[in-house]
Amino acid sequence: MEIQEKDCTIPRHVALIMDGNGRWAEERHRPRLFGHKAGVDSVREVVETARSLGIEVLTLYAFSTENWNRPEGEVSGLMGLLKNYLRSELRTMLRNGIRLNCLGLPQRLPEDVRTVLQQTIEETRSCTAMTLNLALNYGSRSELLVAIQAIARQCLEGSLDWHSLTEETLSAHLFTAGQPDPDLVIRTGGENRLSNFLLWQASYAELYFTEIKWPDFRKEQFMEALYSYSKRQRRFGKTGAQVVTG
Ligand code: FPP
Repeated sequence: MEIQEKDCTIPRHVALIMDGNGRWAEERHRPRLFGHKAGVDSVREVVETARSLGIEVLTLYAFSTENWNRPEGEVSGLMGLLKNYLRSELRTMLRNGIRLNCLGLPQRLPEDVRTVLQQTIEETRSCTAMTLNLALNYGSRSELLVAIQAIARQCLEGSLDWHSLTEETLSAHLFTAGQPDPDLVIRTGGENRLSNFLLWQASYAELYFTEIKWPDFRKEQFMEALYSYSKRQRRFGKTGAQVVTG
């Protein structure tokens, strides 16, 4: 059965852990980068689908702080794919009202990637239809640590009072400041873990794990994940009866 938009509740924020590119390539006796290249086509299709469904925020885990440990050739290949993707997508982003945002610390990215990233962020700044967060050199624990350091500094300097700190104070110091928390986190590639991704923001997110490897995750598979999300009851700590009766 092909899943239609009318069968789904559309989440405001979907976050994706795009796993399985390497294994997808190895199954085909091709180098790992072949899998990442095919993964870029999935990125395009999922971004286009999210935009047409009216999802407000789409977050893609493109490169973690741990990914620097991969062989140098794979890291530079991934950086090249990223740069080409940003270059080739700018016009589409502008046409579709997609604002690009980076989660993570771009300082460590190669200069050419940083430049095209900053340009794309700048040029799409006034787009309002959807925000595309690319998590690059991202790790959730380091994001939390940086936020806590900034809050501690402001407390010491007197611009914040520690008595009045709230969950919102911390949220406002994360890379996702001002955005709704993810409603749905999808991980492809058959592993069932979060791998240091949006640990604070995903506290109440529905988790969807699939065996499908990222290069095979296209519109149809995305719709299946949204359909599964639609069938779940989000209780936020309440009982099922409370949720049903409001
Ligand atoms: C994990 O698969 C995937 C990555 C570390 C990189 C994801 C990057 C892309 C999809 C392409 C570039 C991104 C954009 C946004 C243009 P893996 O290599 O860990 O797979 P494996 O577990 O099978 O080895």
